[in-house]
Amino acid sequence: MGWMGDMTESETLPDFDTVVDRRGTGSLKWDRYEGREVLPMWVADMDFAVCPAITQALLARVAHPVFGYTRAYPGPGEAVTAYLKRMHGVEADPSWIVWMPGMVPGLAMAAAAVGGPGDEVMTFTPVYPPFLSAHADSGHALVTVPLTESGGRITFDFAAMEAALTPRTKLVLLCSPHNPVGRVWTRQELEALAVFCGKHGLALCSDEIHCDLLLEPERSPFTTALALEGKVREQLVVMMAASKTYNVPGLGLSFAIIPDAGMRRRFQAAKNCFVAETSPLGFAATEAAYREGEAWREALCVYLRGNRDLIVAHLAEHAPEVKMPHMEATYLAWFDVRALGLQNPVAHFEQYGLGLSNGADFGAPGFVRLNFGCPRRVLQEGLRRFQAGVEAARLLFALPHR
Ligand SMILES: Cc1ncc(COP(=O)(O)O)c(C=O)c1O
Repeated sequence: MGWMGDMTESETLPDFDTVVDRRGTGSLKWDRYEGREVLPMWVADMDFAVCPAITQALLARVAHPVFGYTRAYPGPGEAVTAYLKRMHGVEADPSWIVWMPGMVPGLAMAAAAVGGPGDEVMTFTPVYPPFLSAHADSGHALVTVPLTESGGRITFDFAAMEAALTPRTKLVLLCSPHNPVGRVWTRQELEALAVFCGKHGLALCSDEIHCDLLLEPERSPFTTALALEGKVREQLVVMMAASKTYNVPGLGLSFAIIPDAGMRRRFQAAKNCFVAETSPLGFAATEAAYREGEAWREALCVYLRGNRDLIVAHLAEHAPEVKMPHMEATYLAWFDVRALGLQNPVAHFEQYGLGLSNGADFGAPGFVRLNFGCPRRVLQEGLRRFQAGVEAARLLFALPHR
């Protein structure tokens, strides 16, 4: 892959331009296309080296040669509650935290904690694919309500939600900020959702894994569901992790914050059926990220915003028939490529050397998702390949060029 250029050791300063070669590390993202000239821009991890504080914390933990089952010792919980106060302005008690080896099982645990077989889980499409399958493990049924557009912005469709409700609907699964549409829900939108849940006695599980990947925090600040008041708090599960923001998803540690003791007990009981112990390395990395990673995170978000702006400019100039909602958060760009008339967009772009996520898996055929959590020159190469695919589609279907 000549476009990688000269690779250097990962730097100790935030240097998001350095290309780190991940091939041969068992990377899910890179190994999918092993031996093929396809640039992987699909699954949601970033190609950046972690911040030095995380490396140091891991080295310190590895220096102790025993890696037995690990319980939540005080450090990580205190780091999380201090972070919640500092970053999100909410008070939480460390005893509210339930540690988990991943957030995806947490979605299923939230469903299992409310109701039983035949009861319903509601979520809003398009959405991160596990939201569409998490209900199945506990025998729940799924109710999907499409997000809608209002004033040029994607938002909740409360009329459709009311219409889709049945007496068996027990839980709302919310992705906040939203993967894949990149929305940071406003406080007003979340308060309206809290009223909806409270009015109908619904539990709310808010997956906030992307909450610190804000591309324009002044204009679109994040509100955690932990800030919501009223009846919704009685059945509230908020899930977070350092994993996306600090690029340590392979270390397998996420956490749920559950203010209500009864809800926490039910979630914990479900957890005991679903998942194994959490990893000592995950705890070490999470504590270091929240205690020492803030300067790195801020620099990361500035860099990601530059990547997003590059994509916006590229589409405007070269591929205006491809539409992308305004991305307020995440490093995942959501492209509407329906105008290209492709039967199978992912297979098409793979032919032009680009590996994307399939919108159909998110409940939106005709869309693809591009991961821009990578050095800028890798993104530039990805956009070059994307453009080659767009131009080929134009020729194939004799579409107008603009
Ligand atoms: C919204 C959302 N939730 C959860 C996850 C995965 O979480 P975990 O790796 O902790 O299971 C992702 C990964 O892309 C995600 O986008």
